[in-house]
Amino acid sequence: RPVPEVPVRTRKGRPTMPNDQAAAPPALVAAPGPAEHAGGCPVRESRTPDGTMGWVVSGFAEVRDVLTDPRLTSAPSTLAADGSPDPRIAGLTALGLPPETHHYFLNAIVDLDPPRHTRLRRLVSHEFTARRIQLLAPSIELITDRLLDELPDHRDEFGVVDLVEHFAYPLPVAVICELVGVPEPDRHLWSDWSRNLTAGHTERLRTATPALVRHVRELIDRRRAEPGNDLISGMLQARDDSANVGPDSGPDGGPSNAAMSEDEMVSMTLILVLAGHETTAHLIANGTLALLTHPDQLALLHQDRTLLPHAVEELLRWCGPVPSARLRYADRDLVLRGVHIRRGEAVHPHLDAANLDLRHHDRAKRLDLTRKRAAQADHHLSFGYGIHFCLGAALARLEAAIAFGRLLDRYPGLALAADPGTLIPGDRPVGWELNHLPLRLGRI
Ligand code: HEM
Repeated sequence: RPVPEVPVRTRKGRPTMPNDQAAAPPALVAAPGPAEHAGGCPVRESRTPDGTMGWVVSGFAEVRDVLTDPRLTSAPSTLAADGSPDPRIAGLTALGLPPETHHYFLNAIVDLDPPRHTRLRRLVSHEFTARRIQLLAPSIELITDRLLDELPDHRDEFGVVDLVEHFAYPLPVAVICELVGVPEPDRHLWSDWSRNLTAGHTERLRTATPALVRHVRELIDRRRAEPGNDLISGMLQARDDSANVGPDSGPDGGPSNAAMSEDEMVSMTLILVLAGHETTAHLIANGTLALLTHPDQLALLHQDRTLLPHAVEELLRWCGPVPSARLRYADRDLVLRGVHIRRGEAVHPHLDAANLDLRHHDRAKRLDLTRKRAAQADHHLSFGYGIHFCLGAALARLEAAIAFGRLLDRYPGLALAADPGTLIPGDRPVGWELNHLPLRLGRI
């Protein structure tokens, strides 16, 4: 990933069953979890691999504070000394992204601070409202059903199918293509690019990335000539009225700076793949594994499908796919919960540990699909919090609800075909990132 990660102490864990014990996902076991901050240490010193000082933040309230603290910047380049290179460039180069494409990633919405972030977010947010996303439901159902229909064909000689490869992974990228307005025959460009990123195929990315950028520009040209009902058409039409006043106004007071530039549209579409593909894929895979290792909870869902939206929230909390938000950097010397943090030091908000904070949730380690919650923002921080709250949250929620619902309808006898402990890759410091989820489909 473009920014160096702060290492945390690791200990391997495995899902426990049945659910009458306090079942802790490995993410909790590995992260500086509730046990540690119950001991009074929700802000702990750590170091990045390059030796830079950093701080791990792990309590629910503390992570929420960090994600809304204006003294912490998401754009480390603003802190770099004049003339020194942006620290993220080395990461992008290591990924295999060619230099001429770096600016799309360096100016990604998630790495911007206000006012640039505010303007860009305002220009796209109407495309991601729950009501707008709900219009995609029929297409998501169609894509989901098609993939589920094909599952039996992918069984090996032992009758086992890999849910990650044949369902969890292809579904979200197809949905993003639907959202963006990518025609069917071109969709392989997007899934190949994403797969190359995941697999670390740097050589392929060197040619595939400029090709994808050219492809997005062609889509923009096409939609400029013939607007449709998709994200690209929406971005082309978007105007930020608030930008018409103040220093960003055009010379005639008109909306010259209000519309999105073509570079901004390209950056946004590439970031959607980065932000929305693997995350959603891992939620589907993690959630399926969690349900199959907690038969009591699975039975609840089989009895009552109206539980699905709650189930998605609880799965996001218990085995959310994004263990930590992006690093934030102190833009001045500051004090956070009594801890002195110096300008330039990194702060690492641990979402998974926050979600399992015993001070915030009763029996936090327990997966409980019927868990009561006062408000969504109090249930979990898996979509982050504050100005960078996940833009695709409504889409991820809808997609996960459709995926789990249809999967259980279609294959009620679904069963794990491997010891769950062997499925959690051990080379990752925190969180679950299943590479495979071997399943038997049951009687079909
Ligand atoms: C931001 C999680 C799916 C697009 C974020 C952040 C988190 C997150 C934690 C905030 C990062 C930070 O503050 O450092 C997730 C999870 C997902 C998911 C758990 C699936 C289960 C999606 C999808 C899309 C998407 C499907 C779009 C197709 C974005 C974008 C941002 C973002 C564009 C940046 C928003 C901003 O900076 O204003 N996501 N995400 N995400 N997410 Fe998601």
